[in-house]
Amino acid sequence: MATPGTDRGQWGSRIGFILAAAGSAVGLGNIWRFPYITGQSGGAAFVVIYLICVALICVPYLFAELVLGRHTQKNPVGAIRALRPGSPWVWVGGLCVITGVFILSYYAVIAGWTFGYIFKNLLFAHLDFGHFIASPWIVMPLFALFLGLTMLVVFGGVEEGIERWSKVLMPLLILLMVVLIVRAVTLPGAEKGLAFYLKPDFSKVTGEVIVAALGQAFFSLSLGMGAMITYGSYLSRRENVVVAGSYVALFDTLIALMAGFMIFPAVFAAGHDPASGPALVFIVLPEIFQALPLGNLIGALFFLLLSIAALTSTVSLLEVVVAYFVDERRWSRKKSVWTVGALTFVIGLPSALSQGTVAGLSNMDWLFGPDGLLGQHDFLSIMDAIWGNLALALGALLISIFVGWVWGVERAAEELRLGSRVSPGLVRLWQFFVRYICPVVIFIILMNVFRGYLG
Ligand code: PHE
Repeated sequence: MATPGTDRGQWGSRIGFILAAAGSAVGLGNIWRFPYITGQSGGAAFVVIYLICVALICVPYLFAELVLGRHTQKNPVGAIRALRPGSPWVWVGGLCVITGVFILSYYAVIAGWTFGYIFKNLLFAHLDFGHFIASPWIVMPLFALFLGLTMLVVFGGVEEGIERWSKVLMPLLILLMVVLIVRAVTLPGAEKGLAFYLKPDFSKVTGEVIVAALGQAFFSLSLGMGAMITYGSYLSRRENVVVAGSYVALFDTLIALMAGFMIFPAVFAAGHDPASGPALVFIVLPEIFQALPLGNLIGALFFLLLSIAALTSTVSLLEVVVAYFVDERRWSRKKSVWTVGALTFVIGLPSALSQGTVAGLSNMDWLFGPDGLLGQHDFLSIMDAIWGNLALALGALLISIFVGWVWGVERAAEELRLGSRVSPGLVRLWQFFVRYICPVVIFIILMNVFRGYLG
């Protein structure tokens, strides 16, 4: 990983890369976003479509980002510029960088809530969640603090601290999730939650549900905005991209599925609305903790681990943007981190204030009409729908066209084969997916949504 002074580094080992890439992938996307979007999208049928998107679109596309990064050893803008200098394709890299800033701007707000929840029972025990996220003097400092932590890590280099911690903390998070799942599924009334999560009702599937599933798959795997191009660029040619990437995808998907088993039984047992939006997990989890011995302690530990998982994701978001300024604009790492951090804070403020603090941000129907934008009504969720969903799908569409048609699948496959033993048949299958399946399917899904908006 890049450190100050040595602006370009390399992962120490394959496990170092897997941990960092899995650290980027596993985060609030799995534990906060997956249950909230699943809840809004009708449950099991959404999960089935999500899994199809992961297997058929995201996994092949993940390798495309990784080989693009490893081949060029550059950030998204630099990678495209290196292969097609002076062409408008460079703007696709620009879209990646902008998407990174915008996702970070609201992601760090949620991460701030998570961080605050470690101490909530000590410091703000009297506040319920609704008041907690509506209190500007709680959420703004937490947001700033989390962003500051992210800046600190990106400034100092990843492999030293975070990577080493992840080795211990990720397994601990999983262990704790298992405990919570056992508690959740044994609550009275849990069956209804399991049915919601596991028995698909395909009559609920609409164009919006499909685009939500696709967007969630990209979001969860950190795809469509160049994070995996950037992380791939620190990967050595000797590493087996195929194996490493597959581990990351498998791990990330398992954790998302586990989060569903943890949340939905508890949602239905307590009679909550699964479609409550971004607040869902924060309302439901504390109730599971309440039902456990030493619940406060377990709760604090869980939110600590979740904060660290979120930190390894915000680090990757910021790293993409910083790598751009360091590589392409020749800024120092320090100047890049400070500038991008400050800008992100400003952009994120409306999100931080959109959960009950400022009425016009908490419900934006005055702008988007009673159906909201992609079914979302508050500023934060709307940002999430635009950047965490549509922008990622658009980015992935353009990057798969770039790899499949402009750079060319032959050259991409050469890079894929370095360090990996993949059979020729599998390589051809992958080329077919990158060239045809990924762009065409993403295009159709996006068009379907836009057609809905155009009436
Ligand atoms: N994948 C991360 C998560 O699930 C979020 C993320 C998205 C990180 C895009 C980087 C890029 O929490």
